[in-house]
Amino acid sequence: MTHSFHEHSENFPVDARWFYDTLAARRSIRDFESKPIATRIIERLLTAACNAPSAHNRQPWRFCVILDESHKVKLARSMGDALWVDRISDEVDADEAEAEVHRSYDRITGAPVVIVICLTMEDMDRYLDQSRSRAEYLMAVQSVAMAGENLLLMAHAEGLGACWMCAPLFTQDVVREALNLPSSWEPQGMIILGHPVHEGRDRSRLPLDRVVLWR
Ligand SMILES: Cc1cc2nc3c(=O)[nH]c(=O)nc-3n(C[C@H](O)[C@H](O)[C@H](O)COP(=O)(O)O)c2cc1C
Repeated sequence: MTHSFHEHSENFPVDARWFYDTLAARRSIRDFESKPIATRIIERLLTAACNAPSAHNRQPWRFCVILDESHKVKLARSMGDALWVDRISDEVDADEAEAEVHRSYDRITGAPVVIVICLTMEDMDRYLDQSRSRAEYLMAVQSVAMAGENLLLMAHAEGLGACWMCAPLFTQDVVREALNLPSSWEPQGMIILGHPVHEGRDRSRLPLDRVVLWR
């Protein structure tokens, strides 16, 4: 069940209430109609993504928007091959590995739009020591994730369905090669996007007292 403030919160300003209801109603959607999405709508989503905060305002996010069927197939095949190798080396049963590869292939090729979200360290600060280099890298990761969330929320507000998929993070070189991305772009994930076939399943959230300490 999704958190609801309505019962608890008097004087919930109308705009804030609308905003809360919108973000609370977003769910991950993985099944789409084949209907395409207009470029201007995709650009709105990307613009929303780029409005995210970022460390030093360096905007370390990069996006590869895949609309073309042949690119989706190439990406799905390459990632599927990598997934197969990984799962077999995990000693997963071959039938199970094959089912996972098929599911991954169907998810990618079944989405009207696939957006691979990447990170670049090009404009981030450089440090000589490992500790601050790691912190700087994590700030770039955090910034890219914020852009991703903006994109997911905007997609929901547009009546679209979307889901962040982690697989490109596990197959960065494969994704970079399949899409001919610049060498400095590090794939972090991909968002599959389209008109939803059904509503998302309600996913519970931990209660505040499990995740918050007040001091
Ligand atoms: C970093 C990240 C990675 C995710 N990776 C996957 C994934 O690989 N496959 C998938 O089906 N969903 C993935 N999800 C979606 C989560 O499963 C989903 O957000 C979570 O179950 C809560 O459901 P909700 O988004 O509908 O509220 C990912 C979400 C995040 C934030």
